[in-house]
Amino acid sequence: MLATGRPSNAAVPGTELRRRGAPATAPAPSALASTSLRRIHHQTPFLACDVGVVEESYRQVQRHLPAFTIHYAVKCNPAPQVLRALAAQGCQFEVASIGELSLVEAIGAPGSAVLFSNPVKAPAAVAAAHRRGVTRFAVDSAAEVHKVATQAPGASVYVRLAVDDSSSLFPLSRKFGVGLEESERLLLLARSLGLTPYGVTFHVGSQCTDAKAWQKAITRCGALLGRLAERGVRLQMLDIGGGFPARYTQEVPSISTIADGITTAVSELPYTPALLVAEPGRSLVATSGVMVTSIIGVAERDDGPWVYLDAGGYNGMMEAVQTGGRWAFPLRTSRPDGGTAAQLPFTVTGPSCDASDTMFYDAWLPADLEVGDHLYIGVAGAYSLSYASSFNGFGPPPLVVVGGAEPGRV
Ligand SMILES: Cc1ncc(COP(=O)(O)O)c(C=O)c1O
Repeated sequence: MLATGRPSNAAVPGTELRRRGAPATAPAPSALASTSLRRIHHQTPFLACDVGVVEESYRQVQRHLPAFTIHYAVKCNPAPQVLRALAAQGCQFEVASIGELSLVEAIGAPGSAVLFSNPVKAPAAVAAAHRRGVTRFAVDSAAEVHKVATQAPGASVYVRLAVDDSSSLFPLSRKFGVGLEESERLLLLARSLGLTPYGVTFHVGSQCTDAKAWQKAITRCGALLGRLAERGVRLQMLDIGGGFPARYTQEVPSISTIADGITTAVSELPYTPALLVAEPGRSLVATSGVMVTSIIGVAERDDGPWVYLDAGGYNGMMEAVQTGGRWAFPLRTSRPDGGTAAQLPFTVTGPSCDASDTMFYDAWLPADLEVGDHLYIGVAGAYSLSYASSFNGFGPPPLVVVGGAEPGRV
């Protein structure tokens, strides 16, 4: 059994410890307001999801990046209700596995429109995806180029360029991505193996708070376009990945500011590829969800008061664990006093027998919380259900759709 102690106060990039007096709540759309959530008679835990918020987030990205085709990163929240709502808006999809491709096909989206952006895939997955109509695959190694050439002859490949991801909460460039020279080599190799050298992609890391990160990365892509043009290769796609931040309790750069930088950088490329793509995940779904939990226990420990919930790090709130319990999600309770009661700094943990499912430290909550009260964990629509396991017998919470097609409708 794992056990973790209270983590150090070392800064998590882009976050701050929740302090007394700091706002503990973000403005909530009405279907996700405490008063609305209190009226839902559904056994906890569950993820209350307002798909109207997803739709509006999609429209916002599309409004600010009108030249871009949006491919939602399915991994972020693969619920069919979310996928259907996005597809109805005209959104396309990005998948990392055959399992995700099946989810997209199940809502009627064709494989031919899907981007398979996981740079390292099982050979059988490449072959199966190709049989099901997928023609575009990310690569970032010679082995992967050879794999695609063997398993999906004649397919199109786009190279994952490593970029600066130091301003993100979840960096990705250590695991994936190659430098400029290697990117060029891989696309030339692809051409020599009968594949189409189709494009370039990158990911600035998830929850990236540097508004200029995409701009700098696109400029780097421009250098690759220039080098390849000299070798007679003109790329058809620039895919700027995801990473767009959602507002938890801290302000983040707006999509409008980020889009300005992107538009400038694209206008400075040696040429504009015919297809411009973005793959947002978090920014489309994070604010659409509230994890509705019940307090199943309260206890006074040596380090202060603890509260035990029916959902924890393993069944829904993994990102809170990944960040050492130092990421401030907005928290509210079902207490009718509207949060005016005296507050104490609680440690908030999950239902399992491991201490490692602990989610929050120094979370200021009403001192008189008791078993049966609800705790609402806001901005929980991203990377929550998709990470949830059944560890210790506590299964993934169901998704309960609230609101409707229009944002904020109860
Ligand atoms: C290839 C790819 N595209 C898009 C995304 C979505 O990123 P985000 O949720 O930060 O927007 C991810 C997330 O890991 C990814 O790996």
